[in-house]
Amino acid sequence: MGKINPKLSKSRQKKIISLVLKYWKKLLLAALCMIMVAGANGAMALLVKPVMDDIFIKQNKDMLLLIPGIAILVFFLKGVGSYGSEYLMNYIGEKIIRFFRDSLYEKIMDLPISFIHKEKTGALMSRITNDVNIVKGMVSTAAINLFRDFFSVIAFLFVIFYRDWQLALGAFVVLPLAFYPIVLFGRRVRKFSTGTQETMADLNSFLHETFTGSKIIKIFNLQAFEKNRFKKKTQTLFRLEMKKVIAKALSSPIMEFLGGLGIAFIIWFGGLRVIHGTSTPGTFFSFLTAVMMLYDPVKKLSKLNNTIQEGVASATRIFDVLEETSVITEVQNPEILEGKSFDIEFDHVGFSYNDNETPALTDINLKVAPGEVLALVGMSGGGKTSLVNLVPRLYDVTKGRVLIAGKNLKDFSIKSLRDHISIVTQEPILFNESVKENIRYGKMDASDLEIENAAKAAYAYEFIQGFPKGFDTIIGELGSRLSGGEKQRLCIARALIKDAPILILDE
Ligand SMILES: Nc1ncnc2c1ncn2[C@@H]1O[C@H](COP(=O)(O)OP(=O)(O)OP(=O)(O)O)[C@@H](O)[C@H]1O
Ligand SMILES: [Mg+2]
Repeated sequence: MGKINPKLSKSRQKKIISLVLKYWKKLLLAALCMIMVAGANGAMALLVKPVMDDIFIKQNKDMLLLIPGIAILVFFLKGVGSYGSEYLMNYIGEKIIRFFRDSLYEKIMDLPISFIHKEKTGALMSRITNDVNIVKGMVSTAAINLFRDFFSVIAFLFVIFYRDWQLALGAFVVLPLAFYPIVLFGRRVRKFSTGTQETMADLNSFLHETFTGSKIIKIFNLQAFEKNRFKKKTQTLFRLEMKKVIAKALSSPIMEFLGGLGIAFIIWFGGLRVIHGTSTPGTFFSFLTAVMMLYDPVKKLSKLNNTIQEGVASATRIFDVLEETSVITEVQNPEILEGKSFDIEFDHVGFSYNDNETPALTDINLKVAPGEVLALVGMSGGGKTSLVNLVPRLYDVTKGRVLIAGKNLKDFSIKSLRDHISIVTQEPILFNESVKENIRYGKMDASDLEIENAAKAAYAYEFIQGFPKGFDTIIGELGSRLSGGEKQRLCIARALIKDAPILILDE
C-alpha cells in the first residue's frame, strides 16, 4: 500500500463527476429527500418548545392532541426521506462500482501479460474487489453525509438562532472547543487503522505462503521458525489494535466532558435568562435539543474528509490501470494473416524484459519452413520460453524482427496472428471447469467427438476415463489428484484441437 495521494487530476475528477451526473434526476430526488430529513430534524427540535410551554406549563388541551399528531407526521417524513436518499445514492454508487469493475476487467484482459506480471495478480484483483467499493464510499456515502448532514447542521443552526440568538452567540464561543477533539481523535484512529490494515494484509500473504508451502516447512523442520515469525506478526497487530482502542475509547469521554462544559454554560446562561423572564423554559429546552442533535452530523461531517481521501487514493489506483497504454499495439489497417502454412523467421532478434536488464535473447537468427519441426535445446534460463513468447506477440522484440510468411509479424492483426498459433505452455494452466470445457477452450465450437479425438491424440483419453465423471469431471473436484504430466496432456489436447498451422510446445 503506497502513500495516500490526496489529489486527483482534473480530467479524472471530471470523469467521476460526469459518471455521477449521468444520474442527475436521481441525484435531484435524493437531494430533496435529504432536505426532507434535515427539515424533519429541525422540526423535532422546534417542537420541544410548544411541548414545554403549551402542554406542560400552560396545560393547553388542544396542543395535547395537535403536537403528537405533528410529531407522527415529522417522523414519517423523516423516514421516507431517509429511505429515499439512502436508496437513490446507493443505487448511483452501485452503478458506478459496476462501471469501474467492468471497465477494469475489460482493460486488464486486453493489456499485455507484462503488465499483469509487473502489477502482481493480487494487487490487480484488489482493484476490482476493494478499490471500487472505496470509491463508492466516496461518491455515495460521502455525498449522503455531505448533503444530509450539511442540511441538518443548517436546520439545527436555524433552530438555535431562531430560538435565542443571544444565547446562541454565547454558546458559539464555547462549543467549537467541544467539537475540535472529534477531528483530532478521528485522525489518530485513522492513522492506526491504516497500520492495522497493512499488517493484516501482510499476515494474509504470510498465511497463504506458509499453508501452501507447508510441505517444504515440514521437510526442513522449520515449524518452530515459522510459528515464531507468526507470533511476531500477531504481536505487532495486537499493539496497533490496542493503540486504536485507546484513541477510540478516550475520544468520547474527552469529547463528552468538553461538551459538558458547553452544556453547563448553556444551562447557566440560558437559566439566567429564563429566571429573568427574557426567555421561556420551552425556548431553553428547544435550544438545548438542537445543540445536542447538532453533535451527530458534525461528527459525521468531520469524518468526511477521511472517506474522501481514501476514495481519492483508490480512484487514483483505478485510473492508473484504466489509463495504462498497451505496449503491444497494432499498426493502422493491419493485414489479416491467412493460409494454412507459412514459414517463420527470426531476423537478428534481441529481447529483454526490462530496458536496463541483460537481454534474455541476443541476435537470434533462425528459420522454420512449413511442415518443419524445430527443437530448441538449451540450458535453464537460456531463453527458450522467451523466444516462443515472441511469436504470438505475448511480448514484442526489442531488436530485429520476426517474420511470418515473409512479412513482419507486427503488420498483422493480433487476433488473426493468434488464430494461427497454438501453444502448450511450460506451466500447465487449466481452468476450474470440466475436463471437456478445458479442452474445448482451444476450439469453442468443437463437438464432443472432436474433444475425444484430441484427448486420444494427446494420450489423455485413458486417464480421463478413470475420472469419477469422465470428461464431465470438474478440474477443481480432482483437487491435487492430477499429476503434472496429466495436466500437461490436457493442455496438449487443448492445443491440438485448435488445429493451428503453428504449434508451439514449450518443454
Ligand atoms: N517475466 C520475466 N521478467 C523478467 N525476466 C524474465 C522473465 N521471464 C524470464 N526472464 C528471464 O529471462 C531469461 C530467459 O528465461 P526463459 O524463461 O526464456 O528461459 P528458458 O530457456 O525457457 O528456461 P527453462 O529451460 O528453465 O524453461 C532468464 O534469465 C529469466 O530470468
Ligand atoms: Mg522455459
